[in-house]
Formats: sequence, structure tokens, C-alpha cells
Amino acid sequence: MTSTQQPSGTPDFPDPDEGTPVWLKDFPHTSAGEDAVTRRAFTRYLIAGSGVFAASTLGAAVWTSLRDLDSGTPAPLINLDELAEGETHLFRYPGPDDPAILIHLPGGSLVAYSQKCTHLGCVVFFEPELTELVCPCHEGIFDPTTGDPTAGPPERPLPSIALEIRDNMIWALGIQR
Ligand code: FES
Repeated sequence: MTSTQQPSGTPDFPDPDEGTPVWLKDFPHTSAGEDAVTRRAFTRYLIAGSGVFAASTLGAAVWTSLRDLDSGTPAPLINLDELAEGETHLFRYPGPDDPAILIHLPGGSLVAYSQKCTHLGCVVFFEPELTELVCPCHEGIFDPTTGDPTAGPPERPLPSIALEIRDNMIWALGIQR
């Protein structure tokens, strides 16, 4: 053997990974390369977004439960003599954007309801031949004596309006939710 010959099996150069654990050789990510790993940032945004969504949902729920619902103030509607049995009187209650219906039912009783269908808000009307309150949008039917849904997609009754007769005048007193 000459002085320039290397013994067999001896590397020509030193191993640059010498002393590096095997796992680090297989997954060579270092803290300096974290910017390239976006999963952590994505998870952070996901958690922050979920927190904001949860907080806003909670806030909306609290606001809805605490806000003062407008149930209306007493208002004269129509003279009883002007509303024969089977006839209806349309009015706005409790606000100018709230359609409502007063019905003089066959048999003499008076009822009043919000006209907004409890399904998706279409305006219901009274069908005297069938003695039903009908929503034309999806064929929802309500019982005019109670406001309860009897057919179609609505599941909640129509909000009713308390009535009173004062000196032959029919008054709306407030929404009964
Ligand atoms: S809006 Fe009245 S039944 Fe759908």
C-alpha cells in the first residue's frame, strides 16, 4: 500500500450528517424553516375564526333574548257594525310594515292575526268558503279560530292580536306571542 491509498471501507470525505439523529434525517424540518409550514398558521386562523363565530352567535342569541319585542299599543280598528260575519278587515299592526287581519268568524266571534305566514313570511288571507287562513306560497293552512297551522309547511301558529270592543269600536290591544 502506498501513502496515497485509503484503506478499503474508509470514506473519502467526512459525513456531514454525522451525529444527526435518524428522525431528523428523515424529516429535516428545523425551526428556521417553520415559515414554510403553513399548517400551523392555518390551524391558528381556524381556531381564531371559530372563536369569532362562536362569540358572534352567542351575542346574537343574547341580543335576541333581551331585546324588547314590539307587541303594539292599543289602537282602534273598525266599527263592529261595519264588519259583518264572514268578512275581514285588513290593517297594519303593531307597525306600519306589519300586515294583520281581523276576521268576523261565522258564529260571531272576532279574531285577529298577523298576516305573516310563520313558514317564510308570505301574506296569508282568509278563505270564507273553506273557513281557513291560506298562505298561497306553499299552500300553508291555518285554523282561523286558533291561528294554528293545520296543513302545509308552517309549524308555528300565527301570532294573534288581542281584541276588545269599546263603544262598538273594535280595538287591537297587543300581539300575543
Ligand atoms: S310561506 Fe307560507 S307556507 Fe311557505
